Amino acid sequence: MHSIRMMTIADHDAVVRLMKETPGVMFRDADSQESTARYLQRNPGLSFVCEVDGQLVGCIMCGHDGRRGYLQHLIVLPAHRRKGIANALVESCVDELEKLGIFKSHVDVMKTNTLAAAYWESQGWKLRSDIDRFSLVRSGAANA
Ligand SMILES: CC(C)(COP(=O)(O)OP(=O)(O)OC[C@H]1O[C@@H](n2cnc3c(N)ncnc32)[C@H](O)[C@@H]1OP(=O)(O)O)[C@@H](O)C(=O)NCCC(=O)NCCS
Repeated sequence: MHSIRMMTIADHDAVVRLMKETPGVMFRDADSQESTARYLQRNPGLSFVCEVDGQLVGCIMCGHDGRRGYLQHLIVLPAHRRKGIANALVESCVDELEKLGIFKSHVDVMKTNTLAAAYWESQGWKLRSDIDRFSLVRSGAANA
C-alpha cells in the first residue's frame, strides 16, 4: 500500500536519486539542495513524495506564480508503476493549487520523452501547439 505525503528538504537526496536513475528526466544545478530548499520554502505544501514500506518510490514538485501552477519531476520507480501513484501525486498538487485559487497548470516534457507525453495526454492534459518556450541562461551557468 502506498502513502503520499508532503515533500520536505530531507527528501532531497532520495528525490535526486530517483531523478538520476530515470531516463527522460534532467538533473540540473537548479536541483541542488540549496535551490530545492528555496523552492519548497517559496511553494509550501505543494510538492509530494510517495512511500511504500518506508521507501521513497515517487515524487512530484509543484510551484505557482500566483496565476498558474507548474508541475515538474513527476517520477515513479518502474517497479511501482501502473498502480495509480502518478495520478495520486498529480491530484495532490492540483488539489492544493485549487485551494489557492489556481485552476490551470502547466508541465514541461522533453520532446524525446514519449512515455511522459503518453501519460499526460491519457490524463486529459492538452499538448500545446500554439506556444514555443524561449529560455535565457545567464553566462557562466551552463547547467542551470
Ligand atoms: C509517467 C509516470 C510518472 C507514470 O507513473 P504511474 O504511477 O505508472 O502512472 P499511474 O499508475 O498513475 O497511471 C495512471 C494512468 O495513466 C496512464 N498511463 C500511465 N503510464 C502510461 C504510459 N507509459 N503510457 C500511456 N499511458 C500511461 C494510464 O491510463 C494509467 O491508468 P491504467 O494503469 O489504469 O491504464 C511514470 O511512467 C514515470 O515515472 N516515468 C518516467 C519519469 C517521467 O518521464 N516523468 C515525467 C516527467 S514530465
